[in-house]
Amino acid sequence: MGYQLFEPACLGPLQLKNRTIRSATNEHVSEPDGQPTLEWVRILTELAEHEVGLVISGHMTVDRTQRAAEGQIVLDRQTDRSLLIQAADRVHQAGGRLLAQISHSGMKGLEKVNGCPPKGPDRFSHGELDRLVEQFAEGARICQESGLDGVQVHNAHGYLLSSFLNPEENHRTDEYGGSLENRFRLLGRILASVRAACGPDFAILVKADVNSCGDLHGLLERYQRAGVDGVELSGVDFSKRPGKKEPFYLREALSAREGIQLPLIPVGGVFSRAAAEQVLEAGFPFVSFSRSLICQPDFVARMKAGTQDESRCAACNGCYQIYRRRPVRCVQHAVPVPQLERVYGPYSKP
Ligand SMILES: Cc1cc2nc3c(=O)[nH]c(=O)nc-3n(C[C@H](O)[C@H](O)[C@H](O)COP(=O)(O)O)c2cc1C
Repeated sequence: MGYQLFEPACLGPLQLKNRTIRSATNEHVSEPDGQPTLEWVRILTELAEHEVGLVISGHMTVDRTQRAAEGQIVLDRQTDRSLLIQAADRVHQAGGRLLAQISHSGMKGLEKVNGCPPKGPDRFSHGELDRLVEQFAEGARICQESGLDGVQVHNAHGYLLSSFLNPEENHRTDEYGGSLENRFRLLGRILASVRAACGPDFAILVKADVNSCGDLHGLLERYQRAGVDGVELSGVDFSKRPGKKEPFYLREALSAREGIQLPLIPVGGVFSRAAAEQVLEAGFPFVSFSRSLICQPDFVARMKAGTQDESRCAACNGCYQIYRRRPVRCVQHAVPVPQLERVYGPYSKP
């Protein structure tokens, strides 16, 4: 018998109550200066209270000068740790585990928010790369001291670390550009420094693109050597399939996994219990959900209770419109979010 969705499972050092994961999803509810909010704590807690085994926060930037959006949380020495502590405590009380996704926006930094242009791989000096390695380790350490169970290093979707791996976006001619070995170097240093800062009992996952580095198998081998605890597999084109409700990246994950012992978790397109079971039957040990949990934060609990097998989410991608100034998270089942209204103005039906 293969994996069962609602059985306990280990992911690296983590004991999870089941095989469901909330994939990192920017909640867009920070204070204007990037501090976490009670609304952010509430969103994460609600997911855990509704049976999500592992909750991964939306991406938090380790560099406050390079935020990706108005509502993005900043993770550095100025972060209000009391809210991180509260989030970890409340998720644990609900029986879940909590990771923070840590990121640098790279070319996706928002000039309007940051007052300076975004910055891709080619514009980092060696000194700045050294500082970045420290910033990721500091961010992870703050999470650990606040009681979180681990971090996920964001290495997908065109943010900085994904751009370093992508030969079309990394034109460096030094030891950080050219071969995959070189393009992985920064990430390898970051993963090593996070592990050194936080030790073996702290989970380190990565989220990676299946289709931007040119050699997915080679990338997975490098993650394995770097000692990560699991890899969520997404793609640079993850947002380009409105309406598609079947797992996106299974084929790429299957063709790259030979000889890889790391838990691999394809993410994207899972909107039903049948699709979740398809992922497990293909031998992937966990199932990740994002948009279905924006639409219905209790979807996992409903599947567990047997009251609902199909998500109500239409995969319309309207939730991406919060990047386009909408003060709701799900546009179909609109519930205005006060933090978003503060940024984007009061909600009015489109
Ligand atoms: C509103 C929104 C915000 C997102 N924010 C993040 C994020 O912070 N980090 C990340 O890695 N992916 C982010 N994603 C991508 C999702 O984690 C996921 O990879 C993608 O939506 C496909 O999964 P799904 O089909 O279950 O929605 C976001 C997606 C949406 C819709």
